[in-house]
Amino acid sequence: MSLKEKINTSKLPQHIAIIMDGNGRWAKQHGEERIFGHENGVKSVRETVETAAEIGIKYLTLYAFSTENWNRPQEEVIALMQLLVYTINAETETLNKNSIRLEAIGDLSSLPEDCYNELQEAIENTKTNSRMTLVLALSYSSRWEIVNAVKKIAQKIENKTLTSSEINEDTISQHLCTSKIPDPELMIRTSGEHRISNFLLWQLAYSELYFTDKFWPDFGKEDLYQAILDYQNRERRFGKTSEQLV
Ligand code: FPP
Repeated sequence: MSLKEKINTSKLPQHIAIIMDGNGRWAKQHGEERIFGHENGVKSVRETVETAAEIGIKYLTLYAFSTENWNRPQEEVIALMQLLVYTINAETETLNKNSIRLEAIGDLSSLPEDCYNELQEAIENTKTNSRMTLVLALSYSSRWEIVNAVKKIAQKIENKTLTSSEINEDTISQHLCTSKIPDPELMIRTSGEHRISNFLLWQLAYSELYFTDKFWPDFGKEDLYQAILDYQNRERRFGKTSEQLV
């Protein structure tokens, strides 16, 4: 039985989030510059998006560029931005063919103008697609997002449109960039690092975490199936006992 056949399609996670890590080390392993790793990472992005949509995942979030990534060498930042612009442009048609809607979270106003425009255009051109939503986290960091949410809530209190006693978990969720997106049930990180790295800190509260040693450019459809199978074999208790779940 193949890995794909073992997946229980009635127990799929609705939302999978991925920290695509290890492009630089993969490039080094191949005796190449870091950008070669990112270019090959795009192949994994394509395969993962296609596979996720094909098996029925409704939301896929990819951590493509963190707030901290701005501190990388200037030539790598520029090359990554160019790669993003090129990829978004080149893939919009495929997204439409597969009815995939593009969304983005993060401090998008800090992106270079061409990248920002390309992104907004692709979001606009795919907005009626309904099979799966692909969310790119770009210039994103969870602490930045939470600080923003707190500011927006404080503003409402100042304007007297909200009182502090009305604040609950939903209030926080509704002021995050992901207000219209369900929390991920599964978070995958490649490259053997076991960290969350400022990614969806609030939203991952009850997510199952899956780590693989593979570098992102080596991650393919079988790896995604494996991660989903691993998720399906876990008992999600949400603080309850196993007996309570029966
Ligand atoms: C992490 O590897 C990867 C990134 C910071 C960038 C990810 C970008 C892509 C896969 C290309 C474009 C993406 C899209 C969505 C079109 P790293 O550089 O931190 O690797 P290292 O830890 O080995 O140095």
